[in-house]
Amino acid sequence: MTSARMPVLDLDPIEETALLQVVWRAVETASPTAEPWDPFAQAVVAQAGGAALIARFTTGPDLYRRLHVAAVRVADGRLRAWGAEGEDRRQVVLLASGLDGRMAREVFSQGTSVFAVDRPRILDLYRRLSPPGMACPVPVPGNLVRPAEVLAALRAAGWRADRPTAFVAEGVMEFLGGAAMARLLGECAGAAAPGSLLLVQSLDPALVDRARAIGDTAFPWRRLPDPLSAFAHLPVEDVQTLSVTPQPGVGEIEADREPEPLTHVLALPL
Ligand SMILES: C[S@@+](CC[C@H](N)C(=O)[O-])C[C@H]1O[C@@H](n2cnc3c(N)ncnc32)[C@H](O)[C@@H]1O
Repeated sequence: MTSARMPVLDLDPIEETALLQVVWRAVETASPTAEPWDPFAQAVVAQAGGAALIARFTTGPDLYRRLHVAAVRVADGRLRAWGAEGEDRRQVVLLASGLDGRMAREVFSQGTSVFAVDRPRILDLYRRLSPPGMACPVPVPGNLVRPAEVLAALRAAGWRADRPTAFVAEGVMEFLGGAAMARLLGECAGAAAPGSLLLVQSLDPALVDRARAIGDTAFPWRRLPDPLSAFAHLPVEDVQTLSVTPQPGVGEIEADREPEPLTHVLALPL
């Protein structure tokens, strides 16, 4: 199906970032140097507009795509390790799921209940674009700045507070801000069973300077929240930070600058 038959661009700019990131994963999967990775992303992008969609979302610097892909791989590894820690770890909640392909990529153990929380239009798109036969999460429309309502909607959708859950929030801290993200995580932590995990991806505040250094005048943020200070008051004992340092890409090499971590995956075991 082409974009002419399936218009997908009736999204606002925040919702469009879900398309942007699924395009990035599809591009990575198509790269001759990458191992086969996200067939779900490829199938979704083919449905949503194919080459035209890719062209639309790959005009900016490649740095952000490489950061995203690297961070998703790091999160995949942490989620697999969490799932392998116990037979009881069979619930995952994707907070701001976008068009996540982890079910199809079999990152979670068989039989895991996966819930996708996002805005209604994204969840509708998720349903329409999911290839037949590829597994898809249970949709839970919700606004993440209202965590109590999100948890109530999750319960209504079958999520069990008495079983360990991995709550995954990638690509959304920048939109919610540090305080709202900390409130969301605090509420999830308060409701979650022991053995649960909070996994948060966040861009490093230094990315603002890096964007300027590579001449990206369209970079959408002038300031980025610092996750460690935002989460300082969460009721968790340990914040494990898995940082992602991208190799310089073409046109990004600055002789006087060491590569620095520009995105982080924070794991907060409960
Ligand atoms: C950059 S995408 C990330 C999607 C996905 N996590 C990924 O990594 O591909 C940001 C997502 O956050 C969602 N989002 C932003 N603010 C939200 C809110 N207040 N409540 C629910 N979803 C929100 C958008 O709809 C979008 O799908």
